[in-house]
Amino acid sequence: MSDKKQVAAALAQALPEMDVKEIEAKIERPKDSSNGDYAFPTFFLAKTLHKAPQMIASELVEKVNQDGFEKVVVAGPYINFFLDKAQVGAKILQTILTDPEHYGELDLGHQANVTIDYSSPNIAKPMGMGHLRSTMIGEAVARILEKVNYNLIRIDYLGDWGTQFGKLMAAYEMWGDEAEVKKDPINTLLKYYVRINNEADEHPEYTEAGRNWFAKLEHGDEEAWRLWHWFREVSLERFQRVYKMLDVNFDSFNGEAFSAQKMEEPIQLLRDKNLLKSSRGAEIVDLDEYNLPPLLIIKSNGTTTYITRDLATALFRKRMYGHAKSLYVVGAEQETYFKQLRAALKEMGFNWWNQIEHISFGLMNLNGKKMSTRKGNVVSLEDVLNDSIDLARKQIEEKNPDLKNADEVAKEVGVGAVIFHDLKNYRRNAVNFKLEDVVKFEGETGPYVQYARARAESILRKGGIRDFSNVDLTMAGAEAWELISFLGQYSEAIKRAAVNYDPSVIAKYALEVAKKFNQYYAHTRILEDNEAQPARLALTQAVSDVLKSALDLLDIKAPDEM
Ligand code: ARG
Repeated sequence: MSDKKQVAAALAQALPEMDVKEIEAKIERPKDSSNGDYAFPTFFLAKTLHKAPQMIASELVEKVNQDGFEKVVVAGPYINFFLDKAQVGAKILQTILTDPEHYGELDLGHQANVTIDYSSPNIAKPMGMGHLRSTMIGEAVARILEKVNYNLIRIDYLGDWGTQFGKLMAAYEMWGDEAEVKKDPINTLLKYYVRINNEADEHPEYTEAGRNWFAKLEHGDEEAWRLWHWFREVSLERFQRVYKMLDVNFDSFNGEAFSAQKMEEPIQLLRDKNLLKSSRGAEIVDLDEYNLPPLLIIKSNGTTTYITRDLATALFRKRMYGHAKSLYVVGAEQETYFKQLRAALKEMGFNWWNQIEHISFGLMNLNGKKMSTRKGNVVSLEDVLNDSIDLARKQIEEKNPDLKNADEVAKEVGVGAVIFHDLKNYRRNAVNFKLEDVVKFEGETGPYVQYARARAESILRKGGIRDFSNVDLTMAGAEAWELISFLGQYSEAIKRAAVNYDPSVIAKYALEVAKKFNQYYAHTRILEDNEAQPARLALTQAVSDVLKSALDLLDIKAPDEM
């Protein structure tokens, strides 16, 4: 229970006619701590009770449950609450230490299913830094929602269908060399793809050829399908390497191609509801009423579109998973698109249209430059991660030359640094990525948090106690109140992060725990041999546990030594 809830509960006894939630909303935090940790103003009761606030306060205070408070006193129209910090702190520590893995968990989801569509890179294009954002935000959101008891279904909706596939096949037909592709699949395919895109302006027939290949694919042409399988397989292998580095695992890789086979249903439904209109040979859904551009469902050449596949996908997912929410972690440039998708489902009569939620995010700039995949000036995610690991290794070698598993730790720190940097600001903000700022042991970085936890672990190794069940935890409570009460706010942070699909709440929380612990460490000799030592070690253990848990929610490893 948070402190504020404790105050509300104490007041609830005295105010049976009021709802606890209402009471909680009225509780204030006095600016001056000499007025207590919390204050309850009574002005608002004056009208109903026909009494002066001062009077109400002095009557109420008699009925308040004083357990867990050092004192509860009247100050004019206010009731001021002074927490019994030793007791409250001990309770927080005890809760953490009894079951660290589950600390902070809540039941908001009651095990309801949530599908989350994230990462979703496109085959035969490299997975760029843009997809990093979707992958990391998606994974963190999934972990946060699991922590509040939703059941997550992770879907990598591969972009394995569409005209760009036709383009790639056309390029392969013109310049393809099987042996070359086999030797270095992704780079070779990328080379073809980049070339056809670069030359398409001068050679409109390339675009046409691409369209034709795609039509072949849609009509089940054998050669087209053989190429499709091959391209998909080699691309997926490459993506899997990145997912492995990031420790991200999907439940499904059903992508656009899978949905492309299921398009009769949405098209038929749109027709039955009279929602399809023809417009210059194409078939569209008018969304004027929503102030949205029309949806192109079938192009004039008869091929279906990206959004038609997404409609089929949505129907399939609802039927397959019976989800309570269906989340899509996709860049902010697709905001209108997802509004259209929701509007179309609403028009089709599905009352679950609003379960579809777009978790949008801002651009990632590399050293101030935008990143694009179409013309090939792409930074591969794998390269960035490897650079980050190298830089982490260098710094670790300087700091701790004797570290045994230095390679493993360098990986955990290098990858963690990139992830943390991505997640530490609200997702809709743009991210500027500069490696030197990302892999730093000081400042608002992942390594800073990991290092604080490794320091806690090192203290604990020296301290030698790991079982705190017989320790008087009240000893730590008063002297480290700032830190302990903040540890007590973990589940509130988790709730905020879950409700807003916002991992930055957890990242900022972890930073703050690390900062507060470092301050505590600077002022307190934790290992000094005195009667407070066991309680101080218990606090150190609780810090380590909470940091590990928070890092885990962000999909970042917590090395014990670094
Ligand atoms: N493949 C798309 C891209 O790279 C993202 C797909 C998002 N998911 C979806 N169901 N539309 O932009």
